[in-house]
Amino acid sequence: MAIFLCFLYFLFSSAAACDRCVHQSKATYFSSSAPLSSGSCGYSSLALGFNGGHLAAAVPSIYRGGVGCGGCFQIRCKNQTLCSRGGTKVILTDLNKKNQTDFVLSGRAFMAMANKGMTRDILKLGIIGVEYKRIPCDYKNQNLSVRVEETSQKPHYLAIKFLFQGGQTDIMGVDVAQVGSSSWNFMSRKYGAVWDTSRVPAGSLQFRLVVTGGYDGKWVWAPKVLPADWKAGVVYDTGVQISDIAQEGCSTCDDKEWK
Ligand SMILES: *[C@@H]1O[C@H](CO)[C@@H](O)[C@H](O)[C@H]1NC(C)=O
Ligand SMILES: *[C@@H]1O[C@H](CO)[C@@H](O)[C@H](O)[C@H]1NC(C)=O
Ligand SMILES: *[C@@H]1O[C@H](CO)[C@@H](O)[C@H](O)[C@H]1NC(C)=O
Repeated sequence: MAIFLCFLYFLFSSAAACDRCVHQSKATYFSSSAPLSSGSCGYSSLALGFNGGHLAAAVPSIYRGGVGCGGCFQIRCKNQTLCSRGGTKVILTDLNKKNQTDFVLSGRAFMAMANKGMTRDILKLGIIGVEYKRIPCDYKNQNLSVRVEETSQKPHYLAIKFLFQGGQTDIMGVDVAQVGSSSWNFMSRKYGAVWDTSRVPAGSLQFRLVVTGGYDGKWVWAPKVLPADWKAGVVYDTGVQISDIAQEGCSTCDDKEWK
């Protein structure tokens, strides 16, 4: 197990390096949330209900082939006349294929960066210099949940996506087994936040995940998630939540909350 996690660490640590440190870039916005709600992560219209509609699309280096989906970021614009020091907190729901800015925000998230009375001014600029850092996602009274995708076909095919992942780690592996069994089948990342397998155990199902962040990797076990009569389109509570925060060796790192 330790060897396995070490292996994962070497594979992924470079991508996660200094995740929570401050980065400089630019941000712009979508005039509607539609592109974000049909986003690459696969959250579809569910995304509109996330985080008060404060959503973001990010460039491939942040999206990381879907690993970044559901991650949370605090973004503030650098002009203090225009913008508050706290900025906005967004959740990643889409891939930004244009690399002019690291983030494209929902209009609501973009406007949330503005100081009182400055909303119209930042909208008019359209693209602004920002600094950002990854922050833990904070789901109060909400466990990590699994939504069974419509493409699932009992008994041969199961596709799920993870919703409401707390903390600041990445899901790097998912296994599924019948409740009470130790015969685990791995699932593959299909795209975005969606994982699938064509080897579906019968009966009610448990999951275990490998989550990593910085130096650390660990297993998260959800011993009872899907009932035997699981149905597509339904969201199931995993009964667990992840609150870990990436541990990294960044020399100068502003990991305090911006207020
Ligand atoms: C900040 O924005 C205001 C209003 O658009 C502008 O007048 C000012 O020059 C900007 N400051 C900097 C440092 O860019
Ligand atoms: C942006 O994309 C263009 C074309 O896809 C590429 O040539 C360029 O190197 C990219 N710039 C950065 C900073 O990634
Ligand atoms: C989260 O899961 C625990 C069981 O581990 C359960 O007691 C709790 O009610 C769940 N929380 C919510 C908000 O559903």
